[in-house]
Amino acid sequence: MSDIENMKAELLGAIDGAADLAAVEAIRVAALGKQGSVSGLLKTLGKMSPEERQAEGPKIHGLREAVTAALAARKDALEAAALEAKLAAETIDLSLPAPELPRGSVHPVSQVMDELAEIFADMGFAVATGPEIEDDWHNFTALNMPESHPARAMHDTFYFPDRDEAGREMVLRTHTSPVQIRTMLAEGAPVRIIAPGRVYRSDSDATHTPMFHQIEALVIDRDIHLGHLKWTLETFLKAFFERDDIVLRLRPSYFPFTEPSVEVDVGYANEGGRRVVGGSGDAPGHAWMEVLGSGMVNRRVVEAGGLDPDEWQGFAFGIGVDRLAMLKYGMDDLRAFFDGDVRWLSHYGFSALDVPTLSGGVGTPA
Ligand code: PHE
Repeated sequence: MSDIENMKAELLGAIDGAADLAAVEAIRVAALGKQGSVSGLLKTLGKMSPEERQAEGPKIHGLREAVTAALAARKDALEAAALEAKLAAETIDLSLPAPELPRGSVHPVSQVMDELAEIFADMGFAVATGPEIEDDWHNFTALNMPESHPARAMHDTFYFPDRDEAGREMVLRTHTSPVQIRTMLAEGAPVRIIAPGRVYRSDSDATHTPMFHQIEALVIDRDIHLGHLKWTLETFLKAFFERDDIVLRLRPSYFPFTEPSVEVDVGYANEGGRRVVGGSGDAPGHAWMEVLGSGMVNRRVVEAGGLDPDEWQGFAFGIGVDRLAMLKYGMDDLRAFFDGDVRWLSHYGFSALDVPTLSGGVGTPA
């Protein structure tokens, strides 16, 4: 056998025995690389006589082609084997149970806010907002609570250590009522808005947390009277609880910003440790739960809102959203609302797909 044939046999044998792609590459470099053995042979062609070249040329080129083809074939074979192995290792067992999807839920406060917004939107109320860091004028003075007014002590207010640029004392708003003033000043009359949001008071027990939620309502027009207030409250509470046997108790009360003022209680029964809304709170096994404060807007508040109280009058109310949620969905401790305990949330939370609508029911429990 000629040297060339020996070389060919050796190289093809080595290529056949190459165990992986790295080994194939090493052989390629050793044979066909710049310093490779086959490349070296090709270079000798240039120094040969024409006759020699005619005899040796085809052999050397044949060697190069054979090695090139063998390398490519081995590479393909190794790659195909690797793919087979990968596919075999990645087999999916379609009979396995599907993994559990991570599931978030909507907090009952958000759900109840959405339910209330839906109900009031249907009655023609727009949504207004105001800042949670409020100045003392909007939170108190404009609502007929001048400095040193004893009613300021009714709210356990969180004060900021510093005043704003205008020298006003700053507070975490103690109620959503300042939005009444902001809305009248910004938009004039008539007004028909609700203002949902967070409010703050330094207070904590089973039915009080330092941060809680209210929805303020304000209606201002030329002939609004207490009958409109009562109708609105009854209509919204029946829609919210989705029952007609709701009994309301309107109690004379006092707020500096309304005159007369009315506190509203809802009758409920205690059935097996669960509160169930309905019936008179005075009936056996029943009790009253206070859910909101309301009244006819005080003339001085209408004035602070930049309107003429001889022309414009109206009613306002402030709903305790968290309490309404407790009454409707049966929680007994308000503090757990804001503990962020996932067990509580998965028990009381709502699916993101349970969007409250009047047609579909504003409050189907999760
Ligand atoms: N702002 C009152 C409170 O937080 C509630 C209220 C609002 C009362 C509007 C009357 C009118 O207690």
